[in-house]
Amino acid sequence: MQRIVYVNGEYIPELEAKVSVFDRGFLFSDAVYEVTAVLDGKLIDNAGHLARLERSCAELELSLPVNAEQLTEIQRELIKLNGLKEGGIYLQLSRGNAGDRDFAFPTDTPPTLVLFTQSRQLIDCPKAAKGMKVISIPDIRWKRRDIKTVGLLAPCLAKQAALAAGASDAWLIEDGFVTEGSSNNAYIVTAEGKVITRPLSSDILHGITRASLLKLAEDANIEVEERNFTIEEAYAAKEAFVSSATTFVWPVTMIDGKPIGDGEPGPIAQKLREIYIEVAQAAAI
Ligand code: PDD
Repeated sequence: MQRIVYVNGEYIPELEAKVSVFDRGFLFSDAVYEVTAVLDGKLIDNAGHLARLERSCAELELSLPVNAEQLTEIQRELIKLNGLKEGGIYLQLSRGNAGDRDFAFPTDTPPTLVLFTQSRQLIDCPKAAKGMKVISIPDIRWKRRDIKTVGLLAPCLAKQAALAAGASDAWLIEDGFVTEGSSNNAYIVTAEGKVITRPLSSDILHGITRASLLKLAEDANIEVEERNFTIEEAYAAKEAFVSSATTFVWPVTMIDGKPIGDGEPGPIAQKLREIYIEVAQAAAI
């Protein structure tokens, strides 16, 4: 069955949806995006995602053609039209079709807004239950990773390298420290049970799931320290895990072939996953 997607004010079957070859998202990755999880047909942590979208747009002088309330209506309509129960909604805003290829920003060109749904099992998935293997590789991305742009070739290469090595994902290393995963934030747990994750800066994406998890950890009396950590520290950690809109929390059980802790999903990762899903689902809209 064809999905109904949203393109610039219209809800249309996916095979009929068109974006120009001159669209700046296509030519220059001059576009930002967001992914919001959907559980039971409802949006998870969506206010945070739309707030970050506004921030990404402001950083790039991109103007949103609709406000957060209207975006939420579009997301809800797509969920309804596609009968989506569990999965995600992808939203992309580009600087539009300027009618030619020119590096300079066009004036008076309307942006291109595209949204589509993706059906996916988020609660019952093998990686959440069994954990996943990651490899470490150099972080070759640009220096404004706090802006959620569609310039994702480096993460695609990282993911491919991980798959080629028999792992599921890659942790990215810069100046000896882990920045984040290819499409998620990275955490380790010390022997004392303290969660360590890199502090916010332009080195990483300011994860919406991360922000929620850190609050929930505090409420659950799980100590968190925001500081850089090395991959060697990760090898020796009691637990490791990642967070994102589409994984919530997934335990990491092996890094570069070395088992983390006892090589099984750790209790803190599992507890944070449980609490996150419970609280986020109760607040879903
Ligand atoms: N990725 N870091 C990076 C580099 C990411 O791409 C993502 C999200 C995150 C987690 O952010 P959040 O918790 O707000 O989803 C961290 C999305 C899911 C993606 O690209 O599909």
